[in-house]
Amino acid sequence: MAKHKIALIGGGQIGGNLALLAAQKELGDVVIFDIPKAEGMVKGKALDLMQLRPHDGHDVTITGTSDYSDISGSDVIIITAGIPRKPGMDREDLLGINLGIMKDVASNVKQYAPDAFVIVISNPLDAMVYAFHKVSGFAKNKVVGMAGALDSGRFRAFIAMETGYSVQDVTCMVLGGHGDTMVPITRLATVGGVPVTALISPERLKEIEDRTRVAGGEIVKLFGNGSAFYAPAQSAIEMAESYLRDKKRVIPCASLCEGEFGVDGYFIGVPSVIGSGGVEKVLEFTLTDDEQAELNNTLDAVKKTVGETGL
Ligand code: APR
Repeated sequence: MAKHKIALIGGGQIGGNLALLAAQKELGDVVIFDIPKAEGMVKGKALDLMQLRPHDGHDVTITGTSDYSDISGSDVIIITAGIPRKPGMDREDLLGINLGIMKDVASNVKQYAPDAFVIVISNPLDAMVYAFHKVSGFAKNKVVGMAGALDSGRFRAFIAMETGYSVQDVTCMVLGGHGDTMVPITRLATVGGVPVTALISPERLKEIEDRTRVAGGEIVKLFGNGSAFYAPAQSAIEMAESYLRDKKRVIPCASLCEGEFGVDGYFIGVPSVIGSGGVEKVLEFTLTDDEQAELNNTLDAVKKTVGETGL
């Protein structure tokens, strides 16, 4: 069987970790693309990763480039091109710079890898994935944003930290936009099937929800320069793996909704089935009135940022 090919557009903090994880999972050969100014950096990272291979024995090739033609034939493209946040910034503050970058990336991906499944990570996520879709004209099932997987992972981590039980057994989902208005669906969160509402007091659960909403900002503040990269990379790799191996995992992703959950024409975090068809389905279910109101609120925030793209 021919090896898959994964191209990473942006080879910074998240990009480097995406390359490491994609190689370690042997998802396929990896091409790390970055701007000419960063060509040495991505070529260096690629070479470093090639020299990691003898230690854990993964048989894939990792290369660095600033030539877009090298992404030709990619099965999956993961985009982190852009700038990350600094302390005091919202994700929305990145729009001006990152929108221009995303337009450039989208037209090149369209030209060189028109059949790829594209995962967008750049922020502000809900607007960036919208912009990629608009500019590239890709089918809606081939474009998805990575946010809910990360936000849900953060919620899961905090619940595991609170209870002391295995993070492996914590399941939950966070829906909506990738910002402070995101919607943790605490009602459906469980530890090994036991509702978290039976394990954690309502007051503590509220605090955990609030911490989840600003979890990215907590890390930005600690770093002082830049934003989270390990967990974002892992979250996107799970999505790429589900596509390449047709696992049909159900992951909260920013998918284009056309009526689901009352959302029409916007990418927003909803439970999505990812398989060889890309985003094969959005799994809709009935929200409580409060949850729906919160989703409407997050949708307003997403609409506002998308509106600012002028697309
Ligand atoms: N094309 C390709 N790559 C680009 C372009 C471009 N036009 N412009 C910038 N880049 C590259 C930068 O050179 C850099 O190597 O994108 C990379 C971004 O890496 P980092 O600055 O390390 O940022 P990172 O932490 O990886 O986050 C990237 O993901 O989570 C979001 O908010 C985050 O928008 C940010 C993005």
